[in-house]
Amino acid sequence: METVQGIGELREILDASDPGCSVGLVPTMGNLHAGHLSLMAASLDRCDLTVATIFVNPLQFGPHEDLEGYPRTFAEDHAQLEDAGVDLLFAPHETEIYPEGRSAQTAVSVPGISTELCGASRPGHFDGVTTVVLKLFNIARPNVAFFGRKDYQQLTIIANMTRHLNVPVEIVGVDTVRADDGLALSSRNRYLDDAQRAVAPRLYATLQDTADALRTGENDLPGLERTALGCLQAAGFEPDYVSIRDALTLAKPDPHARSLVILGAARLGRARLIDNLCLERT
Ligand code: PAF
Repeated sequence: METVQGIGELREILDASDPGCSVGLVPTMGNLHAGHLSLMAASLDRCDLTVATIFVNPLQFGPHEDLEGYPRTFAEDHAQLEDAGVDLLFAPHETEIYPEGRSAQTAVSVPGISTELCGASRPGHFDGVTTVVLKLFNIARPNVAFFGRKDYQQLTIIANMTRHLNVPVEIVGVDTVRADDGLALSSRNRYLDDAQRAVAPRLYATLQDTADALRTGENDLPGLERTALGCLQAAGFEPDYVSIRDALTLAKPDPHARSLVILGAARLGRARLIDNLCLERT
């Protein structure tokens, strides 16, 4: 695996590759776990050349969020990517991505859903994500880019940006990887102590209970959301939201809509956990 920090070096390698070869891009912020490796595997399976990126993007962190403390584990990440068979790693410094400084950077903003759900409690977060992802698309010019379905809102917003701006990249969502007890893998799980780790799977379990109620014909969506919030609170979370949305658009659904996604976000100690569950009603 070649590792490069500069955009020029990355372009030289990509420009020298076979013109017909398909390029898969897997953007990450590092601290890789099995969830990231499943994105790599999806790209390796589908594309001739897989480019992983590691960049802890400051633009997507709020002023009181964990940018400084975000886990940086480059040596371990590098070894995992090499073992996985990734072809190229792009790990730029901040000055390579934002040479004129953070505040001078042109931003990309997807209207509507960027300010709802996680966007409501993390103002500017999704603008930071779409800005860096569009830059990475323009830098690596992939045919396909892979993102985890665990960050369902992020995936939807990136798909909207790509469509709205006619970016010639196919966006692929990859299923969430879970621990045996159901907890979705996340770099932020490391903030949980043992007692909190034991409680954490209740987030997904609560989404599953909500899905079961929907499947059995319950149509009072606000009532189901309130019940789920109460369950999370009782388990020891500080819930941010539980919301039942249209799975494609993330709009508030018609109560009889068939393709739904239940999204939840809740704090547990230092960690802010998110998860989701898609369901088709018959
Ligand atoms: O999901 C992430 O790790 C980040 O939001 C991403 C897509 C790499 C952009 O910084």
